[in-house]
Amino acid sequence: MISELLSVSTPLALPAVSLAIAVYVALTIKRAFFSPLSTIPGPFLNKLSNLPLRYHTMTGSYHAYTTQLHIKYGEVVRIGADFISLSNTSDTRLVLATHGFRKGPIYTTGLLLEENSFATTNPELNKVRRRQIGDAYAFHTLRAVEDLVVDAGANSLIKVWDAALAEQGDKARINYFYSFHRASFDVVGALGFGQSFNILQTGNTEVIDHMQNSIHLKVLSSLLPFIWSIPVLFKEKKKSTKAIVQLIRDTIDMRKKLVSETGKPPRIDVLQKMVDAKDPVTGEILGNESLISEIFLMLIAGTDTTSNTLSWVMMQLMHYPEVYRRVTEEIRTTFPDTSQTISFNEARSKLPYLSAVIHETMRINPSVGGFLPRCVPAEGATIQGHHIPAGTQICITITACQHNPQMWKNPEVFDPERFLGPDVTERLKDVLTFSSGVRVCIGRNLAWVELYTVLANVLRRYDFELPENAPYGPHKLSDKGVPAEIPGESFIVTSPVNPKDNCWVKISHAKA
Ligand code: HEM
Repeated sequence: MISELLSVSTPLALPAVSLAIAVYVALTIKRAFFSPLSTIPGPFLNKLSNLPLRYHTMTGSYHAYTTQLHIKYGEVVRIGADFISLSNTSDTRLVLATHGFRKGPIYTTGLLLEENSFATTNPELNKVRRRQIGDAYAFHTLRAVEDLVVDAGANSLIKVWDAALAEQGDKARINYFYSFHRASFDVVGALGFGQSFNILQTGNTEVIDHMQNSIHLKVLSSLLPFIWSIPVLFKEKKKSTKAIVQLIRDTIDMRKKLVSETGKPPRIDVLQKMVDAKDPVTGEILGNESLISEIFLMLIAGTDTTSNTLSWVMMQLMHYPEVYRRVTEEIRTTFPDTSQTISFNEARSKLPYLSAVIHETMRINPSVGGFLPRCVPAEGATIQGHHIPAGTQICITITACQHNPQMWKNPEVFDPERFLGPDVTERLKDVLTFSSGVRVCIGRNLAWVELYTVLANVLRRYDFELPENAPYGPHKLSDKGVPAEIPGESFIVTSPVNPKDNCWVKISHAKA
């Protein structure tokens, strides 16, 4: 029977396959050279295929690759057969301004949980979610929980680093990447799980390990949506995702039980605001599965983003000793009383040079450097005179915008002076680190509270220096003649590579 089928199908299969190949080649040539995108500059291979783009996305080099393409080809570049990238901030802001350019399909491919505010490509769902959970991240909520942020963040770092000094002597070697990473998980624990995970102080990284496995699973599920669901594959990663979901479920149940037993919440925090979340327009509440997905998202979106920003600040301060000297002098002279914690408001309003250092770090090392595609609407779009047809995806490339030499003089130089003086507000419009428009980062207020309170308090308390054999520092210059940065790898969030070797400093108590 099978041989009969084969003998019948073989003479038919050959012309069918040849025809399919011919159609594919014709369509590829049409798309590459005769579509409206054909006038957009970019490497030849990228006009034919999305493979180079996929390769750079999967290997964590998207941000560096596209930034280089923009330097070579200009502000609008064809980075794939149907993908373009922009490096002009105004063009980028225009795309981000409305829901007209929806998030690309990659955001919802292979979702492990219900759609959440970040992943959804549906503008209506996003609007409802932002109204429901917006209050959890509003400044007035965060001001009320600032003590929790400071306890789990700055104070906990100080406890652990003081203990390291007590053990190691006048100077202690600490890994700033791991310290900041653990602290950011503890902060999210304190706000979203009812208590700090205490990772920094106990060294128990189980939650971080589970989250990292879950993020790998998410990446695999979006790239290989059919393979990942086969039960025998990726067992450990699936177990980790289950463990985190169970932890969130138990946390929510416990909080609801407490409230029903005592008639009031034990405290107002992000968890409570999410449990109580209600759309002020429609009155719709957040169902349990949506709540789990939003808290899961908080663990992903609210940890590495902030901790990597802290790590990049520390790296830049160690590479530019004069900036380090100036920022510590500002903090120590403005707040000499070391028995008082420097609050968020105090730091933000009285430390302009620290603000400039943070803004400049966010410009030069934006912690979200990955692939953030948006779909061109049915009517198409016109950007810098190019007609971009529907079906094209426009990638938001924050790193390329912030390294664009048309917009930033000597973009590779770390220079906080850019953010001092009367035109700071204007300049800040070109910093897209938290994105912009309708899908702008909803957690940015929390990030600011954590960044200011950690940096102001630890830079006042400790002197930092690089160890003698540090692989990166002022001694190691790039081809641009400035200190070479620790390279970053970007799987949406850009982290320093190999932090185990690259992110050490020596600390000592600051001289009074
Ligand atoms: C320095 C720290 C942070 C940076 C640089 C950052 C950056 C960003 C960026 C660039 C986006 C847009 C992503 C896209 O278009 O796909 C975004 C969205 C988002 N961020 Fe952040 N983020 C930070 C901290 C946080 C924190 C602390 C939270 C919450 C705890 C958070 C929650 C979110 C959420 C929920 C969205 C999705 C918003 C939407 O699509 O409507 N982020 N963030």
